[in-house]
Amino acid sequence: MKKQLIVLSYLVFHVFFAHSVNFHAYKPLFVRHKKKEFCYISFVDINGTSYITKQKRQCSFFLSVVYDVLASRIAESLDNKIAHKVILIPASQKFLGKKYRDWPATLHTIVPGKSILDQRSSYSNINLRQAIHGFTREMIYWMSKHKDLPAIVALDIFLCNHDRHRGNLFYNRKTDSFYAIDMDLLFESRLARLAIYNLRRMSSSDIAGLTEKEVRALCRLRTMLERLVDQHDAESMVQLFDTLIEEAGLMSSCSYLNVEMVSNTIAETREKIRENYEDTKELIVVLSHIVDTSLKR
Ligand SMILES: Nc1ncnc2c1ncn2[C@@H]1O[C@H](COP(=O)(O)OP(=O)(O)O)[C@@H](O)[C@H]1O
Ligand SMILES: [Mg+2]
Repeated sequence: MKKQLIVLSYLVFHVFFAHSVNFHAYKPLFVRHKKKEFCYISFVDINGTSYITKQKRQCSFFLSVVYDVLASRIAESLDNKIAHKVILIPASQKFLGKKYRDWPATLHTIVPGKSILDQRSSYSNINLRQAIHGFTREMIYWMSKHKDLPAIVALDIFLCNHDRHRGNLFYNRKTDSFYAIDMDLLFESRLARLAIYNLRRMSSSDIAGLTEKEVRALCRLRTMLERLVDQHDAESMVQLFDTLIEEAGLMSSCSYLNVEMVSNTIAETREKIRENYEDTKELIVVLSHIVDTSLKR
């Protein structure tokens, strides 16, 4: 009962308060359920607003809930509207739409619009997925096409977000706004290091060929990265990561997992957070050099 009250007040504060909904009558209603390739998605209605309960289908993605929440908190600090908001539903907590009761899940605000995959627009061919190869020249072009995109790219670099494919990028035509969803696979490849490497390999003719809009997009990318680095130092991110693991109840509910595998992955992730933080600072210097050179032309 006590735990339920804690989760309820947490929800009230983070979800209802943020959306100015009257939360006195807390009656979540089940709307519909979808089985996706990697997760279960349930649409639930809370006081007239729809949310998504998400739970991964395989327990090998045991850090996904932690990543989705961590990324949403970091995104919120950068720009309150650029991504969905995500709340942790701990392993021990019953919740509407939770498929596995003894496993954590997440509750997500629903972003407006549709994914790039699900609509035709001038952004249909957008490619911002940094995955294994990292930041590319093509991404500078796409960033220059919309003011929201440098912030999303910065977020992906800062969090080493693997998976910004077109299904994880929403666009709302009505307001001409982009939104990032699904940040549950972080700190795989060192994306800031890869960006440095790729930018240094850009030839002087590539740099000379940057349009004014592209230089402005790089400038905005640098500003966004600077803000992230200023607001979240590596140790505070590691601390948030550890707190979320604890809050998720992962360590007590991971009897299915080989404990050594779990602790190794957690230790490696802490290291990657620290490394990527240092790399991001170096990347800011590299971006400054390109921007300054271009502006002198
Ligand atoms: N915040 C959200 N707003 C709108 N749709 C969402 C949101 N989160 C998830 N979805 C929908 O659910 C699908 C699966 O969710 P996602 O988080 O991408 O899961 P997975 O990690 O399995 O790719 C998305 O492709 C999207 O259609
Ligand atoms: Mg997805």
